[in-house]
Amino acid sequence: MEPVHNLVKVHLPNYLANLPLPNSIGGWFRLGFRDWASLIPFFALVGGASYVTYRAIKPKLICNPSIKKDEAKVATMVNIEDLGDKTVYCRCWRSSTFPLCDGSHGAHNKETGDNVGPLVVKKKA
Ligand code: FES
Repeated sequence: MEPVHNLVKVHLPNYLANLPLPNSIGGWFRLGFRDWASLIPFFALVGGASYVTYRAIKPKLICNPSIKKDEAKVATMVNIEDLGDKTVYCRCWRSSTFPLCDGSHGAHNKETGDNVGPLVVKKKA
């Protein structure tokens, strides 16, 4: 435990106290080459920790949460002759009967505030 104690209580405070961080905006312009060089590891560490934290907590920006995730691309072919009088296709990617709509978009919209709905294909009357 002593190495951790020394790192947190002695070495880290000494390292931070010796960083040439200016106390004014103008001070940044007066830093020399050695000052900037000594700040590189600090900013690399802070930047790396920030990036790792961002990657861990950022929202997942995907539209397909679960359908055929083992495939590189989900594509559906439908023969127009096979369509009935009316076919309702899912566009929210939440349907358990994908590519057909099962109404799951309603729960998704309620939960997220989204406004997605199905594609309805029907024959002309
Ligand atoms: S279930 Fe996805 S649009 Fe209806």
